[in-house]
Amino acid sequence: MHTVLVTGGAGFIGSVTTDQLVARGDRVVVIDDLSRGFADNVHPDATFVQSDLGDRGVVESLLADYRPDAVIHFAGYIAVGESVRDPGPFVDRNVGRSTTLLDCLVRNQIGNVVFSSSAAVYGEPDQLPIGEDQAKYPTSPYGWTKWAFEQVLGFYEVAHGIRHVALRYFNAAGATPSRVERHEPETHLIPNILEAARGGQTISVFGTDYATPDGTAIRDYVHVSDLADAHLRAVDYLIEGGASTPLNLGSGVGFSVMQVIDAVRRVTGQDFPVDLGDRRDGDPPELVADPSRARAVLGWEPKRSSLDEIVRSCWELRDA
Ligand code: UFG
Repeated sequence: MHTVLVTGGAGFIGSVTTDQLVARGDRVVVIDDLSRGFADNVHPDATFVQSDLGDRGVVESLLADYRPDAVIHFAGYIAVGESVRDPGPFVDRNVGRSTTLLDCLVRNQIGNVVFSSSAAVYGEPDQLPIGEDQAKYPTSPYGWTKWAFEQVLGFYEVAHGIRHVALRYFNAAGATPSRVERHEPETHLIPNILEAARGGQTISVFGTDYATPDGTAIRDYVHVSDLADAHLRAVDYLIEGGASTPLNLGSGVGFSVMQVIDAVRRVTGQDFPVDLGDRRDGDPPELVADPSRARAVLGWEPKRSSLDEIVRSCWELRDA
């Protein structure tokens, strides 16, 4: 049994990871300021502390009281478009307050950090599929903050011996029976198509003139349960003395926007109107992971990340 501090554990991926940690018998402490998360996302068997990560007093006393073996750091802002309009809070949270967390870890001699990073660190990739060593050209302040904090983690390893695994998520998707993605406003493709399938709205396809087989943008969708599983493996890996590394988390298979729409029609049996619109600013044509390093280092295999299973896992919960 390990003790794990989960920052941002009231958010989507953080809550599913907390559920899995609790299910395997770990002791979990969640810290979340609820600025984006929801208190009812936190598993009742986890200890929940509502606080800002920038509050050193609270963080230090949590670390002293619980002495976690590892920290999984989810807390941060994630909306790419918002980061373009208002970058300050992204730099403040994703780099500044996150560094405060590291300082508290150093003072309490806690050295294992699993960090929520993103495929957004790559920007427009030179090659596909994307390996971890490819050049990083983040195209948004959000992507820049994730890349910057990965580098801060590297500095803290040299200076203080903190080891880390930076998990670079591709397109997180899907749901579990107890956790669904909730964003306001919702910008993600699959929740928006499902809303159209429920009869709520028309789905807009952002761009039909990309250099892809059907002209729409291609992404690598990975089920949230598979993402969560990688975090548990990364905790064990670090506790066993594993070396710091970034790891891509994707299925390795890309689907176009039109293919996702077709999958929703197939799985739900619903038809709905599709509006063919213009490109959304900043969207790369194609992002597909090479996840082989995560397989080699963690023994990680995505098990629930077929497109139909991702869609079905969300659709089955539509009335919940
Ligand atoms: N799209 C549409 N219509 C919609 C919503 C999205 O056509 O209503 C398209 C987008 O243009 C894109 C694709 O569907 O081509 C996927 O869009 P999402 O908004 O679901 O996801 P993104 O790929 O833009 O972004 C996600 C995460 C980011 C992360 C990025 C890294 O939300 O946090 O993956 O690859 F940075």
